[in-house]
Amino acid sequence: MTDRASPTQQFDDPAFYAGDPYPAYAELRAHDPLARHPSGGFRIVSRHADVLRISRDPETFCSGRGILLMDIGRELPEVPGALLYVDPPLHTRYRELVNPSFTGARVRALEPWIRELARDLIARIEPGVPLDVVEHVTVPFPLLVIAELLGVPAEDRDRFHRWSDAMIEATNAPGGAPSDESAALLGDFVNYLLEVFADRRARPRPDLVTELIGAEVDGERLDDGELLMFCIQLLVAGNETTRNLLSAGLVAFAASPGEWTRLRDDPALLSSASEELLRYTSPVISFLRTATRPVEVGGVGIEEGEHLLLLYASANRDERVFGESAERLDVGRHPNHHVGFGFGAHFCLGAALARLETRVFLEELRARFGRIEVAGPVVRTPSTVIAGVTRAELAFLA
Ligand code: HEM
Repeated sequence: MTDRASPTQQFDDPAFYAGDPYPAYAELRAHDPLARHPSGGFRIVSRHADVLRISRDPETFCSGRGILLMDIGRELPEVPGALLYVDPPLHTRYRELVNPSFTGARVRALEPWIRELARDLIARIEPGVPLDVVEHVTVPFPLLVIAELLGVPAEDRDRFHRWSDAMIEATNAPGGAPSDESAALLGDFVNYLLEVFADRRARPRPDLVTELIGAEVDGERLDDGELLMFCIQLLVAGNETTRNLLSAGLVAFAASPGEWTRLRDDPALLSSASEELLRYTSPVISFLRTATRPVEVGGVGIEEGEHLLLLYASANRDERVFGESAERLDVGRHPNHHVGFGFGAHFCLGAALARLETRVFLEELRARFGRIEVAGPVVRTPSTVIAGVTRAELAFLA
């Protein structure tokens, strides 16, 4: 244990994560890898090996009793189709139903239009003219990808954007209660999706929604409630994460211009650079698990019912795995066993899609720009879950 009063004090404070939390992570990894938060409500799991150990065993470390700090002590409603909140065997059934739509091969078929989208957004960047990349580039990109996947036509994209914002607000609302305005927008979105489901049942198309409606394992299909929840999760999980990966990634390249030059000079580094951005920026800071029985982790006794915060962002800087360059961006890093997408049963369903979006985006950007510079404020988002960038004024030079 460290002898400082409480290095973990700030870990439930969203503002802490909008600063530079990495030195505090390093301190925990070194001195107190399963530190107890002073509230007594949870432990912080900061080492890579312990995050893997826990993620590997969903029977002992469940998600059904909450995955966010704000879930602690709350009565959680049972929501059919909520992948993140269910445990095996139901979780396994859900994944068997939806996995086939998200494999690498399936997702690669989307590459041509994802590339067109990236090209179109990047074409709007004027060399040398500062712009807020969040507003103009990294927000629209994944949002339009998910809109396309869910079959939202171009004329409904503005509504879709508002639904997405409302969804994110609701997900982050203290106590889980969205504002009246967000609740009304969410109601609109639900009705919209129900119409899409009815339309696809009547007129099947070669798209994701038609496929999910027809997905079948052992004669069972997703019902409308499960389908709804599933589509809502795609919107929340696939949107903010990818946006922040790209925003924080561009800021990281501005801070390490040599790494951008390496990537520009060697396109063979595109895949390793995408993985490195996932490691380095860790868009999902942490998720929670709860012990279902007394157990030992890393030599520490864990009681039944104890909550464990898997600090992916810290595991991704663990010097035991990533060596002395763990705190540095290295676009050629290999191997790179990061946990940016989590690990085990809940490993990110959209990983292949997010990887494709990132690689294509970097490829198109490097074809146009030789340098990225910070040209104004970079504002990080206060959140205990998402390592967000709210605003980033950058300039791109040829
Ligand atoms: C950079 C982008 C992304 C990051 C960093 C990311 C990160 C994560 C992480 C860490 C988890 C694990 C949750 C846990 O441990 O409980 C997860 C799960 C999930 N992600 Fe992603 N994600 C990204 C993009 C996407 C995309 C594009 C989609 C969908 C289109 C998506 C859909 C999901 C879903 C549905 C789950 C729940 C899986 C389950 O519980 O079985 N994610 N993601």
